[in-house]
Amino acid sequence: MIIYSNFITSESKDSLKTYENHYLVCENGIISGIFKVLPEKYKNLQITDYSNKIIIPGMTDLHIHAPQYSFRGLGMDLELIDWLNTYTFPEESKYNDIEYAQKAYSSFVKALKNSSSTRACIFATVHNEATIMLMDMLDKSGLITFVGKVNMNRNCPKSLCEIDAQTSIDNTREWIESASKFKNCKPILTPRFTPSCTDDLMQMLGKFNLPVQTHLSENLSEIEWVSELCPDAENYADTYYRANLMGNNSIFAHCVYCTPKEIELLKQTNSYIAHCPQSNANLASGIAPIRHYLDNDINIGLATDIAGGANISMFRAITDAVAMSKLYMRLVDENAKPLSFAESFYLATAGSGSFFGKVGKLEKGFSFDALVLDDSKLENINDLQLTDRLERIAYHLEDRAIYAKYVNGIKI
Ligand code: GUN
Ligand code: FE
Repeated sequence: MIIYSNFITSESKDSLKTYENHYLVCENGIISGIFKVLPEKYKNLQITDYSNKIIIPGMTDLHIHAPQYSFRGLGMDLELIDWLNTYTFPEESKYNDIEYAQKAYSSFVKALKNSSSTRACIFATVHNEATIMLMDMLDKSGLITFVGKVNMNRNCPKSLCEIDAQTSIDNTREWIESASKFKNCKPILTPRFTPSCTDDLMQMLGKFNLPVQTHLSENLSEIEWVSELCPDAENYADTYYRANLMGNNSIFAHCVYCTPKEIELLKQTNSYIAHCPQSNANLASGIAPIRHYLDNDINIGLATDIAGGANISMFRAITDAVAMSKLYMRLVDENAKPLSFAESFYLATAGSGSFFGKVGKLEKGFSFDALVLDDSKLENINDLQLTDRLERIAYHLEDRAIYAKYVNGIKI
């Protein structure tokens, strides 16, 4: 496949590279190169012409809750624990009803398919049947995803609570077995967070050889609660580390208040941080020290955290991350340089994408996941450079700019 257009990709963590009126060649879903002049050997192939459009790498939403899509935008005046008890847990209880799940998950998958995300790491609920249904829908969507059946066996309503650790593990085994038939959608272990999972459940989950996603240090009351629940743990991160749940296949959402020791653990284990700026603002959780994580070369990507974040657009995550980093500089640490647009773009594309391998850049050897963007609606009066056009798309059009979307070289 050959595409003629304008391309923008991250070149490094803090710089963008642009290719104006170039040819991108993709073979079997992998990028072979981007050329000003098309090499002779490709001359006979048909060219897809996206002149005047802008093509960027597809984005990876590193943390999103599928069952929460249905109530996004509600309860945004609460903080985490009240929001979970008032909105989240009652809503997630409904996914015991497969007809409800069918309706709600169809709406979620349609929205994700039309969004700026080409890949995502997704929480479902504790329910096996509904989770498999969600995975089936995602598998057929062409998106590439990890989905987790949630583990929770304490501090939740009866309707969501697995009666003990062994039952939770048995359910998990059965779910993994049923999920083995999917191609684009893979299982990821999902202990919701330490307050929802007993120590023995965590220990048993640590014996599986699968990727992991969970929450870490999002909210001050939550952190206090974890220290009461696990008095023998060194810190919140240790509740996962001591169960063998940290590593380069593990994602920790939020990390707003990690201590130096916890940050060291994240770095040592090559764990991923999913930064969720809009959620952290909506739930008044706090402002994560992203500059510090970036400067310390910790694996980090961006996420919407629907429904803590109300908006499914990763463009919105990019612009919120910039805004939140500026508030961090103003209110918390004046030496922490705010994120540039290029850095935030990197986090949403290459930063998050690396969890899936060579994903998130338009570069030889990377999967061709891409968004074709049309900014004609913006009626730019000034003669703008490509990167300026992209920045305005992020702030003004978000996902409304999407003209076409490719995952692994396939138009979806
Ligand atoms: N911590 C535990 N569960 C959740 C959830 O569903 N959303 C957020 N933002 N934080 C959590
Ligand atoms: Fe979350």
